[in-house]
Amino acid sequence: MTALSANAAAVPHSGIREIVDLASVQKPGDVIHLEIGEPSARTPAHIVAAAVAAAEGRTGYTSSAGIRELREIASARIARVTGLPVSLEQVVIGQGAVQLLSAAMAALVAPGDEVLIPDPAWPNYEMQALLYGARPVRYPLRPENGFLPDPAEIEALMGPRTRVLIVNSPSNPTGKVVDRLTAEQLVRAAERHGVTVFSDEVYDEIVFNGAHVSLAAMAPQSVVSIFSLSKTYSMTGWRVGYAAFPHWLAGTVAKLQETFISSLPVASQAAAMAALTGPTDFIAANLADYRTRRDSVLADLSAIGLVAPIPAGAFYLLAPLADGADSRRSAIDLVNHGVSMAPGTAFGQIARSFLRISLASSAEDLAEGVRRYRDWFETTEGGLALGNG
Ligand SMILES: Cc1ncc(COP(=O)(O)O)c(C=O)c1O
Repeated sequence: MTALSANAAAVPHSGIREIVDLASVQKPGDVIHLEIGEPSARTPAHIVAAAVAAAEGRTGYTSSAGIRELREIASARIARVTGLPVSLEQVVIGQGAVQLLSAAMAALVAPGDEVLIPDPAWPNYEMQALLYGARPVRYPLRPENGFLPDPAEIEALMGPRTRVLIVNSPSNPTGKVVDRLTAEQLVRAAERHGVTVFSDEVYDEIVFNGAHVSLAAMAPQSVVSIFSLSKTYSMTGWRVGYAAFPHWLAGTVAKLQETFISSLPVASQAAAMAALTGPTDFIAANLADYRTRRDSVLADLSAIGLVAPIPAGAFYLLAPLADGADSRRSAIDLVNHGVSMAPGTAFGQIARSFLRISLASSAEDLAEGVRRYRDWFETTEGGLALGNG
């Protein structure tokens, strides 16, 4: 039997998926799902219609960097939201933001290189770094600093092997939004050390307080900015993302796309074109829903004395456990109490005594799920009664 590659063997399972899988084998209807970052709203009809029309036409392979017209549309949108004029050659379409991040990582890191990743952060960054043999180096987003990055502390972690700095704003799982000054300082620190910034901006249109700051225009030569159709357009299942790369990197990533995907499904690309050029009123309506859900979850938690960090964007909320409680154990136990939430341990160390609730679940599910959480919290002393480790 051929041995597994050491890199592949080193990739941990996603701690979110563990709970998703556990919850999915329960009897349908027994568990309320608050663990997945997936809008409960359906994909808007005009987007679905464009995909159906495309599927009825010729559906061959397309360019591995994406259909030209979609790249043009994406480059216009990137220019509009970031203020950075990007050429068609700099834009690559991928199978969701996740696949573009992976391709960009493959283009830049070699075994032994270091990738700076937030703690807490979406687990896939670390999984990707490990897959390419890089060493993930976590930088803290401390609760006492509002879960925001500290540029001086991050710069101190940059060494000769640091290749990539990952910044995610609005953040999954904290919902915090990086301000302009901090963003600027992060980008300048990366420039000083020859580090490429991966600016994961998949929640760029989901901001409740303040404004989204895009890092791309701050240093076009050293920032990759990554966007997605998944969250804003309720299109998680269509698997389309797009990214703007510096000139020196774009061609290599476009080339690598051939090895990963050959090309994306035509129907998904047609759907993405319709999404990016069509009506946008539902975006504001969804945002208002997320905000209402955020406020009612915060109120429901505070009714039993729980103070959660207030998310300014994305659609997640970190519900606190008792100090020192183990969130993985708690999340597993909660599935048996009829509600599934993502454990903070899935995102690193700092949020280990929190559970992530997705505000993209329906209002009814959130209300009932949080009620079950409160009952559970009171009977388990906030998870402490389950013990640790
Ligand atoms: C921070 C972050 N980046 C990227 C993604 C992946 O998005 P996509 O569906 O476009 O692959 C997610 C999905 O949850 C996410 O939370």
